[in-house]
Amino acid sequence: MTAPDRARTSPGRGTTRREFLTGVTGALTAAAMAGGKLLGSAEEGATAKPIRGPGKTKITLEVNGRRRELSVEPRTTLLAALRDELRLTGTKSVCELGQCGACTILLGQTARYACLTLAVQADGRSVTTIEGLASPAGDLHPLQAAFVETDGLQCGFCTPGQVMAAAALLRRRPDPKPEEIRAALAGNTCRCAAYPKIFEAVALAASRLKPRP
Ligand code: FES
Ligand code: FES
Repeated sequence: MTAPDRARTSPGRGTTRREFLTGVTGALTAAAMAGGKLLGSAEEGATAKPIRGPGKTKITLEVNGRRRELSVEPRTTLLAALRDELRLTGTKSVCELGQCGACTILLGQTARYACLTLAVQADGRSVTTIEGLASPAGDLHPLQAAFVETDGLQCGFCTPGQVMAAAALLRRRPDPKPEEIRAALAGNTCRCAAYPKIFEAVALAASRLKPRP
């Protein structure tokens, strides 16, 4: 299975490259239609979704529990909005093709590739990045602590994405089996091949987070 296939089929991945391109095409088509006054009747215009672009449009995101208002072009990815506009650079930009998972964030409770999500698609939604996992007092999230404890990384470049994919898993499956951990992280590539320690870290965090009987 190729990396793009993994990205398409991994549990919790909400956006495929096909869906992303469809979204971009839709936004551009809507903008072109608006510019060319091809919207049709007034009734159709009243029921259609609001048209975004071609210039900048305002969006509101709840990022790590904080309301953020942004002005973005319809083509702006959520990854670019987070890194370039909000300076949340913990979300890594590597392939920008939906192949590596370094940009994984939570949109609501679901792991998403921020490079394959348009910022306008996240309008009105909550977004959690690696910066939002620790407690307000600065205590590491159990997943972060487990990665440190098990040495679940080498260069660390993939680590924010791995942690966020694991966070999504543990929110929907507090007591995952080893194969479920591997499946949940299948869309996150580690070039350092630190996979055994990464899986160990997730299992350790799960053992600490799961509800006690
Ligand atoms: S999958 Fe988004 S940067 Fe690689
Ligand atoms: S720790 Fe280096 S890419 Fe994963």
